Amino acid sequence: MSLLEVSNIRKSFGKTEVLRGIDFSLEKGDVLSIIGSSGSGKTTLLRCLNFLETPDTGTISINGKTIFDASLHKKLKETEIRSNRLHFGLVFQSFNLFPQYNVLDNITLAPKMRLNEMNYSKEEKKEHLQGIIKTAQQLLDKVGLTEKAASYPCELSGGQQQRVAIARALALSPDILCFDEPTSALDPELTGEVLRVIRDLKSSDCTMIVVTHEMEFAKNVSDKVIFMANGIIEEEGNPYDIFEAPKSPLTRAFLNKSVESF
Ligand SMILES: Nc1ncnc2c1ncn2[C@@H]1O[C@H](COP(=O)(O)OP(=O)(O)OP(=O)(O)O)[C@@H](O)[C@H]1O
Ligand SMILES: [Mg+2]
Repeated sequence: MSLLEVSNIRKSFGKTEVLRGIDFSLEKGDVLSIIGSSGSGKTTLLRCLNFLETPDTGTISINGKTIFDASLHKKLKETEIRSNRLHFGLVFQSFNLFPQYNVLDNITLAPKMRLNEMNYSKEEKKEHLQGIIKTAQQLLDKVGLTEKAASYPCELSGGQQQRVAIARALALSPDILCFDEPTSALDPELTGEVLRVIRDLKSSDCTMIVVTHEMEFAKNVSDKVIFMANGIIEEEGNPYDIFEAPKSPLTRAFLNKSVESF
């Protein structure tokens, strides 16, 4: 059984059909890269997976359990959406850290809010809180920012802010970590440090979906690559299939254009 199964996801905005039937699956521990031209629907797909958009049709299942089924026409309750969202972590292009909180608080804020919703005794809460802080410190260590726990986002470089955003997403222990062009707002010299963190996460068996324009990264780090065009999956396969032996003329044209732009 796959960790994630996505079936027949469609999404329109007004008359524009942005996703026109998306099906794919992802195994635990795998890294999926999604590539494709601007406007092909990559961000919309990630937003559907993270319940920031509601698909018009289709199903999303995690570990065989259907967490979304558009055919039920059921408006999900806020609590259901929040619990569904916990399966996915999302790291945006523009980091989106809370400027008024220091690094450690940025990472612990969501787990603390979740803790407050639990029916724990005062003692239990105290214990869990210590656990949350310890986990946050371990995550900071993982992204190489132990010394920055007390710094504020404005005191960090873009690459450091993005690494905090990754630690923050990991703090809720998602099944799948999603990235939407995590390096495209960064100067080239800062891109490497963020890609290195993602590469390290792969070796710790983290399942990831990475929307990226970094073709070398997609080629070297992914287990699976999806090429999207005009709201559909035009082609999918392992990195060799897509980068060395693409079958679709659209994939070939896209890859040739990407090479030219470097
Ligand atoms: N909330 C919205 N309302 C209306 N149209 C939208 C909305 N969100 C996305 N779109 C449209 O959907 C299409 C796909 O957008 P999307 O952001 O998913 O593309 P993308 O593949 O992520 O592109 P890029 O590589 O530029 O980030 C675009 O034509 C966009 O204008
Ligand atoms: Mg996008």
